[in-house]
Amino acid sequence: MKKIIIAIDGYSATGKSTLAKGLAKKLNYIYVDSGAMYRAVALYALRNKLVSDNHQIKVHELINSLNKIDIRFVFNPQKYTSETYLNNENVEREIRTPLVSDIVSKISSIKEVRKFLVQKQREYGKEKGIVMDGRDIGTNVFPDAELKLFVITDMDVRVKRRLDELHSKGIYVTDDEVKHNLEERDYLDIHRKENPLVQAKDAIVIDTTDLDRDQQLEYVLKLINDLKLLKE
Ligand code: DC
Repeated sequence: MKKIIIAIDGYSATGKSTLAKGLAKKLNYIYVDSGAMYRAVALYALRNKLVSDNHQIKVHELINSLNKIDIRFVFNPQKYTSETYLNNENVEREIRTPLVSDIVSKISSIKEVRKFLVQKQREYGKEKGIVMDGRDIGTNVFPDAELKLFVITDMDVRVKRRLDELHSKGIYVTDDEVKHNLEERDYLDIHRKENPLVQAKDAIVIDTTDLDRDQQLEYVLKLINDLKLLKE
C-alpha cells in the first residue's frame, strides 16, 4: 500500500490531534504534534528566563539558544501515545499548562523559531507514512501532502474539549480563561507575518462540531478510500 503524508491544520482545540492520533493508529503511521514542538520551545524560554513577567520574549537570546534545544517524541506504550521530550526530559504535561499556552503564540511568530522547527518537521516526513497536525502543515511544511484537512468547530465545543483535555491532565482552569486564551491565540495565529494559519487551497474542510471522535475518524478513512489515496 502506498504511504502518504496527511497534513491537518486548523484552530486550537478543534480536535485536530485526536483525529490525527486516530488516523496514525489506524494506518500504522507516525503522528507528529507540531504544536507540541512550539510549546517545548516556549517552555525552554520560560525556564531559561527568556520571557519577562509581562510576556515579552528576549528574542535574540532565544534565537541564539535554539542549538541547545533538543525536541523528540517518545512512544509511551501504556498510554498508546507519543510524548514530548525536551532535552531528554518528558515535558508532555508541562507544555500544556496555561503559562505555556499564554506565550506560545508569541514564540511561534518568531521567524527563526519557525525555520528551526519546520526543518525538523520535514525530516519526520521524509519516509512519508506520517500524520502531522498544526497551523501551516498543508501550506508550508508539506505543501505537496497527498491529503490536507482543515478542521473547524464552534467555539463553545472547542472550549469544552480543551477543558476536558486539561482536566484529564489534572490542570484546572475556568471556561472563561480557556475561551479568552483560544480567542487570543486564534487572532495571533491568523495575523502573524510568518506562515499564518490559512486554509490551503486544496484542503478539505471538516466541521467536527457535531461529530464525535469515531465519526470523524470514519469520515476521513472513507475519504482516503474514496479518493484512492493509498492505491499504488
Ligand atoms: O496546537 P497547539 O495549540 O498545541 O499549538 C500551540 C501553538 O503553536 C499555537 O498557538 C500556534 C503554534 N503553532 C504554529 O504556529 N504552527 C504549527 N504548525 C503548530 C502550532
